[in-house]
Amino acid sequence: MDTQNSALLKDLLSTRRSVRSFSEEPLSLAVLETFLYAGQGCTSGDGRRTAPSAHALHPLVLRVVVRQVEGLAPGVYTYDCQAGKLSRVAGPIANGSLNSAALGDEKWLEDAPAVIAIVAKRGLAIDHFSAQQADGLRGARYVDFEAGASAQNIYLAVTAAGLGGVVVMGFDDIKMKQALGLERALFPIALFCVGNPLK
Ligand SMILES: Cc1cc2nc3c(=O)[nH]c(=O)nc-3n(C[C@H](O)[C@H](O)[C@H](O)COP(=O)(O)O)c2cc1C
Repeated sequence: MDTQNSALLKDLLSTRRSVRSFSEEPLSLAVLETFLYAGQGCTSGDGRRTAPSAHALHPLVLRVVVRQVEGLAPGVYTYDCQAGKLSRVAGPIANGSLNSAALGDEKWLEDAPAVIAIVAKRGLAIDHFSAQQADGLRGARYVDFEAGASAQNIYLAVTAAGLGGVVVMGFDDIKMKQALGLERALFPIALFCVGNPLK
């Protein structure tokens, strides 16, 4: 990496902060797509992604609760990382439902114009790595680790765009799975609230 890129990366790393207050300004779809690319974009024909994955299993999926994004009707979307596109899987979720699945009062879950949910085919990872550790903890740990890499990529992309966001993991897993309307095979790992910071 050349000196200029190193300086840019250092600048992003040093200015990254969690932001929990958002203005009412909508997000641009193009900008949202850069965050999704950072989190789980496909970077090769054989399915490698922007975040590392043990055995290249890639158990993570990004869902997005869209509230105010230019060009997208409010609702729940899934990110197709091969195509780099969002497709709608459900209509808007009820106001307050994300916060009511949280362990504390996390009002930024309701205020953010978009909430990126990092969800995982957790059972797939647990089964896959059970030969290495039968209790399933290895697969579960790998999923959490990969979600952390994805979340940090999103943090840096959000910082680079001059926007703000925060990762939220303090929630009841079962309630959050219901609030997001996730299919049986998907398990919520982390949510990333994103928007224009309130000045
Ligand atoms: C594993 C993990 C879980 C977190 N969960 C929450 C959360 O539930 N709610 C929240 O507001 N922030 C959450 N955060 C964000 C931290 O509170 C934040 O990173 C910390 O206060 C340091 O601030 P900074 O990100 O601005 O450096 C979480 C961060 C991590 C790494």
